[in-house]
Amino acid sequence: MLAPPLLIGSLRIDPPILQAPMAGFTNYAFRQIVRDYGGAGLLATEMVSARSFAWLSDHQAESPDRLWGVAEEPRPLAVQMWDNDPDTLARVGHLLATQYRVSVVDLNFGCPVKQVTERAHSGSYLLKTPDRVGRIVETVVAACAPTPVTAKIRLGCSRDQITAPDVVQAIEQAGAAAVTVHGRTAKDFFKGDADWEHIASLKQYLHRIPLIGNGDLDRPEKVAEAFRRYGVDGVMIARAALGRPWLFRQAAAAVRGQPIPADPSPAEQQACLKRHFALVLERFGEQKGTLLMRKFACCYAQGRPGARDFRREVSKAPDARSLWRLFDELFPGVEPVAVAART
Ligand SMILES: Cc1cc2nc3c(=O)[nH]c(=O)nc-3n(C[C@H](O)[C@H](O)[C@H](O)COP(=O)(O)O)c2cc1C
Repeated sequence: MLAPPLLIGSLRIDPPILQAPMAGFTNYAFRQIVRDYGGAGLLATEMVSARSFAWLSDHQAESPDRLWGVAEEPRPLAVQMWDNDPDTLARVGHLLATQYRVSVVDLNFGCPVKQVTERAHSGSYLLKTPDRVGRIVETVVAACAPTPVTAKIRLGCSRDQITAPDVVQAIEQAGAAAVTVHGRTAKDFFKGDADWEHIASLKQYLHRIPLIGNGDLDRPEKVAEAFRRYGVDGVMIARAALGRPWLFRQAAAAVRGQPIPADPSPAEQQACLKRHFALVLERFGEQKGTLLMRKFACCYAQGRPGARDFRREVSKAPDARSLWRLFDELFPGVEPVAVAART
């Protein structure tokens, strides 16, 4: 088999194709849609600030919006958090493992956004100091056991400061159950191509835990190629799935050597978009839900005729009704179907 199931601790991930955490996107609504199509072995939330979560918990406030659905939804599910303080991360990790009963606690060491790096000395900023990464992982692993703890990193802070070999070793030695590597540096942000040769080269430093590769996987054939050519144990898909949540199902077929299912029909795609919107509206109400859905809608439109006009109109859509109408126009000739949120 091209891609045997992946073990994260004692958790079996089959197929070894993971849905990446994406702040602002991979909320409960998106995860439900991904689940509906199937093909993703492990889903992840958006990253959560451990410090904010700890504060909310101290003040008996509601859990963060980003944990919407987490307590109840199907497993397996990973929750990702960020900070640089081992004790805060350990405390929140313990809460996630015991109260929320998540399947995996994931640590973010890859975020390149200034607010997280320069202002909070977290995310990819920590790649400069592999020892510190190790200490964080060790503390969180101890607090979460037996729930597995994983880490997501980039190759380093910049091309002339590649630290991933040291960082992945520190992560393994600290007791993490898997490491995911996005094949860019923090300075690259999203520029250039993900460096899969570099991802593959990290395999030599890992002796016990799986290596999950991430970056630019936007077609099922590319996913199969990542396993065949680069020898990773798992892959993670982010941006390409935003408007094509059925990509996981197609990728799963590709790695199983099965025929790749066709894209859903326009009618099915429209129904998917509307169901997504219904879920978002139910949670966030009309004003916030409409704003949030504008960016998702643009992802679904990518590559469709009239996408540019659609994006322009969507960015001005003042309310749910106008956005809904634009969804009808994006798929001309499709008989609109009634859509319920079905939470
Ligand atoms: C809008 C957006 C939000 C992201 N948020 C997160 C995040 O919360 N945590 C994280 O580890 N990575 C985050 N990422 C990075 C992705 O998980 C992934 O590593 C990156 O997009 C490369 O994969 P891709 O080429 O499949 O998109 C984000 C990426 C994007 C585009």
